[in-house]
Amino acid sequence: MMILRTTAEMRRQSRAWHRADETVGFVPTMGYLHAGHMSLVREAAERCDRVVVSIFVNPTQFGPNEDLAAYPRDFARDEALCREAGVDAVFYPAVGEMYAADHSTWVVEESLTRTLCGASRPGHFRGVTTVVAKLFHAVEPEVAVFGRKDAQQALVIERMARDLDFAVEIVVAPLVREPDGLAMSSRNKYLDADQRQRALAISRGLALAVRKYERGERDAAALCATVADGIRAAGGEIDYVELVSRADLCPAARAEGPVLLAVAARFGATRLIDNVFLG
Ligand code: PAJ
Repeated sequence: MMILRTTAEMRRQSRAWHRADETVGFVPTMGYLHAGHMSLVREAAERCDRVVVSIFVNPTQFGPNEDLAAYPRDFARDEALCREAGVDAVFYPAVGEMYAADHSTWVVEESLTRTLCGASRPGHFRGVTTVVAKLFHAVEPEVAVFGRKDAQQALVIERMARDLDFAVEIVVAPLVREPDGLAMSSRNKYLDADQRQRALAISRGLALAVRKYERGERDAAALCATVADGIRAAGGEIDYVELVSRADLCPAARAEGPVLLAVAARFGATRLIDNVFLG
């Protein structure tokens, strides 16, 4: 398995594969890999001859009061997991490789980023779309795989790829959960045992909302309250619990047609997100 640290090396390798008529599947990550990430690697491997995983904790998608410095990092462990999974190359650039000191060009999606995490984390998606565009230029993949855990992010990247004519197919893979239902996340490491237990209110609330939906509940306020009440009862602090249309991520008053029920909540200092699609 190759470990490539510069955009030039990454692009040279990708072009060598392409000259040999091999396709490249790409999984962008911020590292501290878990089974959710590795499910994306399997998706990429099923679709392409070569698999590239990037590991880059992207500073531009963190707000000034967010957890950039504390974000968990363990390259040796990530490297071993990638090797075990048969990854062909890990793209592992330093911050200075990705961003010139006077970097001043941004990719901004202006519609889907108005709600949910776009509203609660100003500037976050500008950092995501910019870094993913740069990573796409370095890796030049045929396919890139994203997780439904970050449902809004996946839709924003699909929109960016369409609007800016990136020649890459965006694949969105299912959300992977711990056996007790908690959505897998690198940030789960921050939770102590008590917070970890209380954080189950998020996935349990969503599961309860799904059952109510299946029994015919369509009112957004009722579905959101089901989730929010459980999180508050467990001592969580809610950033948002929202029902939005799957097409444009605008708030929906009723769960008619395809909708997304999305949550962001804090347990202690740890901000967790989760979601379910309905309809
Ligand atoms: P990161 O949080 O490391 O996630 C990398 C990819 O793994 C994303 O596509 C995310 O949706 C997916 N993922 C995370 N947890 C998952 C789970 N439990 N089930 C399924 N997929 C999961 O998302 C980012 O990094 C960054 O924003 C990035 C796109 C790399 C840009 O910096």
